[in-house]
Amino acid sequence: MRIAMIGTGYVGLVSGTCLADFGHHVTCVDKDQGKIEGLLASRMPIWEPGLEALVKSNVDRGRLEFTTDLSKALKGAEAVFIAVGTPSRRGDGHADLSYVFAAVEELAGLLEGPLVIVTKSTVPVGTGDKIADLLKEKGAPEGVSVASNPEFLREGAAIADFKHPDRILVGAEDDKARAILAEIYRPLFLNRAPMLFTSRRTAELTKYAANAFLATKISFINEMADLCEAVGADVQDLARGIGLDNRIGAKFLHAGPGYGGSCFPKDTLALLRTADESGVKQRIVSTVVDVNDRRKKAMADRVVAALGGDARGKRIGVLGLTFKPNTDDMRDAPSIPLIEGLQAAGAEVVAFDPVGREQAEPLFKNVEYASSAEGAAEGADAVVIVTEWDEFRALDLNDLASRMRGKLLIDLRNIYHRDEADEAGLVYHGIGRGKP
Ligand code: UDX
Repeated sequence: MRIAMIGTGYVGLVSGTCLADFGHHVTCVDKDQGKIEGLLASRMPIWEPGLEALVKSNVDRGRLEFTTDLSKALKGAEAVFIAVGTPSRRGDGHADLSYVFAAVEELAGLLEGPLVIVTKSTVPVGTGDKIADLLKEKGAPEGVSVASNPEFLREGAAIADFKHPDRILVGAEDDKARAILAEIYRPLFLNRAPMLFTSRRTAELTKYAANAFLATKISFINEMADLCEAVGADVQDLARGIGLDNRIGAKFLHAGPGYGGSCFPKDTLALLRTADESGVKQRIVSTVVDVNDRRKKAMADRVVAALGGDARGKRIGVLGLTFKPNTDDMRDAPSIPLIEGLQAAGAEVVAFDPVGREQAEPLFKNVEYASSAEGAAEGADAVVIVTEWDEFRALDLNDLASRMRGKLLIDLRNIYHRDEADEAGLVYHGIGRGKP
């Protein structure tokens, strides 16, 4: 099957490449000439494990192409996916659909025959209807239909998530769209991925509901962690204790510095705007957003408190800047309010991230960058683990302690145990693990 993919960001590039790897012929289109030239030369615009090799092998086999020319990508295509960004709109936090509608406008002028236009970008409920109306208004040919097929992949595990999804969700209003999407995803049936067909509006809203629910789980466990600290309980054991109940599930119960990234913060806000517009309160999601915002800001206070209430002149080694491991993405990363808060309290920050430095540098002022975790610990009063990169999981704590001026190890991801830190002569502060 021939497929056009509009947008070579996270979702577009990973989805397009994986669909090509299934044997479809995919042409990815982007307006950004530099990005397309880079991709043609096998230079990835994002850092995602395994992506470069997969792009290269599919380009070599002639199944994956890149172009800035949408009309070329549309030649013979039976489906065209829209996978452009839907960032938070400045001012009101709603999803900014300008890229989506710019793509649809351009498409409308080029369509020659029947095909399915599929939104893969996360779009507010009703967007598919608006796209269908716009196409009609622009005189799109008969047989063009609009479907919703939200993507649930996680950064850092994007290829595995695309190829082994928990489910494939398709929102469509006609049989032809359903049949084409079933054919596109047929290779996944071998992986026993359930395919769920719903109305277009339901699919659009389901994506927001999924992200909001996961964000809720995280905020719930984060508040439990605070309670654990106050009453002398351990949130890791508590999470296991509740997570083994199948009705609850073990995933997304890791307490930490608050969620960040390109999806949860923006999608929860957009869901709240949809709720406002519909006159239906979403008190749970609204509280989750508030709890998470406060939590991210409170992380700097936590470090200052561990330092005895005064961070002036203190040198803090920050390990991990990106919002999670295996990505260079800094969007809404908890490291941002943490570092800003520490600097405002008079501390000096030296940071190390395995891949995120380039993306991080424009966001911070006066941060010194080390080239290793050990380098960030050199002369530090406290080392703060913010992102659980694998290479931080087996640090030699004796070596770390010997390099430091102070003794504080503040582990915002609970990847160490108090005992091992004690043995190395470090004072350990985890998240939700008894009284610090
Ligand atoms: C998320 C969804 O998981 C994915 O389905 C959707 O398509 C896009 O948004 P992503 O943002 O890439 O994916 O990362 P994810 O692994 O979900 O983590 C999001 C944030 O939650 C990170 O900041 C992470 O550190 C935090 N998190 C996650 C926790 O604090 N605790 C957890 O238990 C899980």
